[in-house]
Amino acid sequence: MTQDELKVLVGQAALAYVVPGSIVGVGTGSTVNCFIDALATMKGRIAGAVSSSERSTERLRAHGIQVLDSNTVEGIPVYIDGADEIDHAGNMIKGGGAALTREKIVADIAERFICIADESKLVQSLGSFPLPVEVIPMASAQIVRKLRTLGGEPRIRAGVVTDNGGHIIDVRGLSIVDPAAMEREVNQWPGVVSVGIFARNRASVCLLGTSQGVKTLSF
Ligand code: 5RP
Repeated sequence: MTQDELKVLVGQAALAYVVPGSIVGVGTGSTVNCFIDALATMKGRIAGAVSSSERSTERLRAHGIQVLDSNTVEGIPVYIDGADEIDHAGNMIKGGGAALTREKIVADIAERFICIADESKLVQSLGSFPLPVEVIPMASAQIVRKLRTLGGEPRIRAGVVTDNGGHIIDVRGLSIVDPAAMEREVNQWPGVVSVGIFARNRASVCLLGTSQGVKTLSF
């Protein structure tokens, strides 16, 4: 099976986690696009969606799914999103698509994070994928200097402005042995909007697309 077919498979499998009548938290990316297309088949049975990016909002609306303002909802039972890497404890690197901040906000509102990914995303430890960090533009140079002290090679993602007006710094060569500690550390630097380590808001379930079908990992 191709990677694209695996994405379709996990996007469809995620429907089983949608709570009928509830608001669904929706992530961003090519795997989530498959989920949004699958969600359209049950749009009459959900109360709407809270979206993590302008791109997902556009796709949801194109399917006739109502997109709600995150500030108007009391709670979301499940948030469904992809990942750039996920480890065996449900910790993830996210933000390859530059949507990490809104993704983390919606994940924080939600009770459970259901990660959908193809098997290439499952890793022993995080860090091969360059870690995205969203920053307020005037802090970029200072955050680049601070990220070097962690042993990484940071580079500002050229030409990218996030939905929040931020810049993205991608950090290569990090060895993330304690994801929660690194998330806490980088989060507290002035000018950091959010870091793409999802340890505090880690997945509780991962639906992994494999050539043998969808494997469910529970954490
Ligand atoms: C976007 C993300 C995505 O979830 C992540 O990049 C995975 O994307 P894809 O499903 O296209 O591989 O974090 O900011």
